[in-house]
Amino acid sequence: MALRVVLLGPDGQLGHAVRRAHAAAGEPFELQPLPRADLDIAVPGEAERVLGDRSFDVLLNCAGFTEVDAAEDDAGSAFAVNAHAVRSLAELGAAREARLIHISTDYVFGGDGSRDRPLPENAPVAPVNVYGESKALGETLAGDAHDDVVVVRTASLFGAAGIGGRGGNFVNTVIGNARGTGSLRIVDDRTMSPTSSADVARVLVRMVTEGCDPGCYHIVNSGSATWFEFARAIVRGAGIEATVAPCSTSNYPSRARRPRYSVLDNSKAVGAFGAMAPWQDALERYLQLRMRRQT
Ligand SMILES: NC(=O)c1ccc[n+]([C@@H]2O[C@H](COP(=O)([O-])OP(=O)(O)OC[C@H]3O[C@@H](n4cnc5c(N)ncnc54)[C@H](OP(=O)(O)O)[C@@H]3O)[C@@H](O)[C@H]2O)c1
Repeated sequence: MALRVVLLGPDGQLGHAVRRAHAAAGEPFELQPLPRADLDIAVPGEAERVLGDRSFDVLLNCAGFTEVDAAEDDAGSAFAVNAHAVRSLAELGAAREARLIHISTDYVFGGDGSRDRPLPENAPVAPVNVYGESKALGETLAGDAHDDVVVVRTASLFGAAGIGGRGGNFVNTVIGNARGTGSLRIVDDRTMSPTSSADVARVLVRMVTEGCDPGCYHIVNSGSATWFEFARAIVRGAGIEATVAPCSTSNYPSRARRPRYSVLDNSKAVGAFGAMAPWQDALERYLQLRMRRQT
């Protein structure tokens, strides 16, 4: 019998990519998308109520409170979705002998100011904002509640659906602003792992079909970039005549602090699932897809 996988957050940027990757792989398992309208994971007891009668082998949690600045002012909601709900899902998984695959973030890191080498899975977490704290707690609570938990940390996603399924993401914003103004200033003092949500989704589908040991995996495209370097590659790749100049984070204060360095070492996932494309290749593919959609 085909594995049954409940997908939470199916309409978000990553959830949408999972649905596409699942279809492209020939629907190797039964995917049951469960949007927020059917299950609000922040409401205590809802996961048990909604999933009580359902049969499933895997809970794939792509739902999250992902607004990093908003989390500073609404820590209650961030912790409800990113931490306490994750514990409930893990408890449910334990009770039903179902694996929980939970998506986390590079923002569990950043507090180690001297870091300048990619972070492996066992590096101590050190979040610098409420979002990162809530996600780090979610990882811990899940692991405490259930033995069969896979935590997938990813980073700086760009994908066809855009954030919240509404089409916006850093790539699209840069293209829009570059076309609109002809000049951009982008921070060059924060370094991360730009990552295609389609590439992460493909690995998630393989994780389900091929299985893997429980534990944490860093799934990001290979390489790293400052946001400035990433923006410059976007503008060049999209063939836009615009200047991109570097600036400092202090020029653009935001509500939440961001990690100065949060590049994830993906060698464990590469060992298990094969090479991850360099982010430049993933970006090129994304820009081509974007162009095809507009023509
Ligand atoms: N985006 C990134 O750059 C990034 C980087 C690292 C890690 N991640 C992690 O990757 C995961 C997916 O992120 P994403 O980029 O796909 O985010 P997204 O586009 O914001 O999607 C999040 C999804 O979660 C759903 N959701 C929010 N609150 C919920 C609730 N209380 N109950 C049920 N569903 C709820 C949202 O539903 P609605 O549409 O109804 O609000 C949305 O579909 C998250 O765990 C995030 O922390 C993302």
